[in-house]
Amino acid sequence: MGNANGYNLHAMFGRFRIARLGVAWLVVAGAASAATPTFQHDVLPLMEQKCIGCHGEQAMAGLDLRTLDAVVKGSSGGEVITPGDPEQSLLWEKIASDAMPMGMDPLTDGEKELIREWITNGLFPSRDLDAEAASAEARVREQAKSYWSFQTPTKHPAPAVAHLEQVRTPIDAFILEKLEAVGTSLSPEASRVKLIRRAYLDLTGLPPTPEEVEAFVNDESPRAYGDLPSRNKATKA
Ligand code: HEC
Repeated sequence: MGNANGYNLHAMFGRFRIARLGVAWLVVAGAASAATPTFQHDVLPLMEQKCIGCHGEQAMAGLDLRTLDAVVKGSSGGEVITPGDPEQSLLWEKIASDAMPMGMDPLTDGEKELIREWITNGLFPSRDLDAEAASAEARVREQAKSYWSFQTPTKHPAPAVAHLEQVRTPIDAFILEKLEAVGTSLSPEASRVKLIRRAYLDLTGLPPTPEEVEAFVNDESPRAYGDLPSRNKATKA
């Protein structure tokens, strides 16, 4: 009994799911036709219904309407579509005059309008894809040319700053310039004792020994601070 119930429930939900998928599909199809019409989504279903009996495998008049490539290629007489211009398109002429589909009910106004809209605004490889690819390539080339790593380096003189005494290397001047532009400056320099404590706490998590502090405080070399990490490594090794 329990099994039978479970089975029925499953069947019910299964059906429900299929119904919902159907709705989703309709929504997607509606959205696609509201945007740029495409052969695959908008035109092919109509062709399959009304044209492919004669313009499929049989390709009457040499015209195969099953793929966009084949449609673009045209019939034995040549192209049947001029992208963007229905009036210059034999395919439009044939359906507008109800000559096609041959021997069948003519297309409805809505179906004709769909084809017309597709010829006018649809995507065609010959026109849109080539043009799109070409312009994309041009865009990339332009971008590539202006990319920073392709620029010849030019020398920028260090900017003039108010606190010249804080400049030790030209790079400092660039930093100071930005700081001074917003009305600030470098923080005052910390004392030697503070400096070495900070450095040791950062590097090892421990404060320096009194001997290490003394050695650093007495080190007159301008590289004393910069040398701290390597000196620290050497003493620990
Ligand atoms: C019952 C068969 C049949 C059906 C269905 C049919 N066609 Fe045709 N079609 C032909 C034949 C035969 C020709 C060649 C004689 C002619 O042009 O009248 C032709 C010719 C054409 C041509 C002109 C080709 C050329 O270069 O002269 C176009 C365009 C065309 N069909 C489009 C369509 C479209 C679009 C549909 C569907 C809406 C369709 N046909 C449905 C039989 C069919």
